[in-house]
Amino acid sequence: MSPWKHKHLLGLSSLSKKEITRILDEAREFYKVLERPIPSVPALRGKTILNLFFEPSTRTLMSFTLSEKRLSADSLTFSKTSSSIKKGETLLDTVKYIEAMKIDGIVVRHSSAGVPYYLSQRINAFVINAGDGAHEHPTQALLDLFTARRHFKTLKGLKIAIIGDIKHSRVAKSNIIGFSKMGASVTVCGPPTLIPFGIEKMNAIFEYDLKKAIKDADIIYVLRIQMERQENGMFPSLREYRELFGIAQQNKKKGSIIMHPGPINRGLELTSSMADAPNSLITEQVKTGVAVRMAILYLLGGASEKI
Ligand code: CP
Repeated sequence: MSPWKHKHLLGLSSLSKKEITRILDEAREFYKVLERPIPSVPALRGKTILNLFFEPSTRTLMSFTLSEKRLSADSLTFSKTSSSIKKGETLLDTVKYIEAMKIDGIVVRHSSAGVPYYLSQRINAFVINAGDGAHEHPTQALLDLFTARRHFKTLKGLKIAIIGDIKHSRVAKSNIIGFSKMGASVTVCGPPTLIPFGIEKMNAIFEYDLKKAIKDADIIYVLRIQMERQENGMFPSLREYRELFGIAQQNKKKGSIIMHPGPINRGLELTSSMADAPNSLITEQVKTGVAVRMAILYLLGGASEKI
C-alpha cells in the first residue's frame, strides 16, 4: 500500500475519492479489531496525541480518546476552563508549549473556522480537525460515509437528503463534499435563511418542501438545530420549524435509513420514535466513529512520507 501523503486532516475538500476510500477501507479493518475480545493494537505505541477541545463535545472527544487508547498511543486532553487561556495565554502559545512536551498529533475543535489550518502552519505535530466553526467536521463525515457504505455496500448512486441548518453546519459541509465525491447525490432542505447562497456549486440540490426532499432518499440525514443560532431569528419559531422541517415519519422508499450526527434535540428536528426506529443508524454512527478515527490516526501517525 502506498504511503499516506497528507500530514494533516483539515477537511474533506483536500481528499480525493481514492483517499476517502482508503480511509474507509482501513476503518473496515479497525472495525474488525474492535470486535475482538482484546480490541486494541500496538500501532501507535510511543506516540502522544493531544485532544484540544475549545468547544463542548461528547461523541468526538470520547471517540478520539478511545481510538488513541485502542491504538496504544498516550492520550491527553486539554480543558479550556482549567487552562492558562483563562489568564490570557494565546492559542498559539498554549499549543506550542504543550507541543514542547513531545506531542506527535493534535486533535482540535474550535468555534473559529480555520484554527486547525492556522495551527498546522505553525507547529510540527500533525493536526486533525475535530470541527472548526461552520467550516468542516471531516471525521464526522468520514464516519457517516463508513456507516452508509457498510449498510448499503456502496455509496455510488445513493440519494441523501440533508435536513436543517445547512449554512451553519460543518457536518453538512463535510457530508456534501464527501457524499458527492463518492458518487451519491445530495439534496438539502431547510428554511431558505439557513441554506448557503450558491449551494448548487457544492453539488447539492436545494428543495424547500420536506416531503419532496425525502421522498426518494435512501438516507434522511437530520441535522441538529443549533439553538444558539435561533437567537439571531434565522427562522420564526421552533414550533414552525418542527412543523415544516421536523422528521416525524418515514418516507416510502424501501430500505431507507435515518442518520443524525448528535446531539439530538428530541421532539424538534427528529421525534424519539424516528430516532429510535429500527432503520435509525444513529447509534451505529457513534460505534463506527471509533474505527474511523483509529484509521485516520493510524494513517497520519504512522505514515512515512507526508506532505
Ligand atoms: N457529532 C458531534 O460532533 O458530536 P459532539 O459535539 O458530541 O462531539
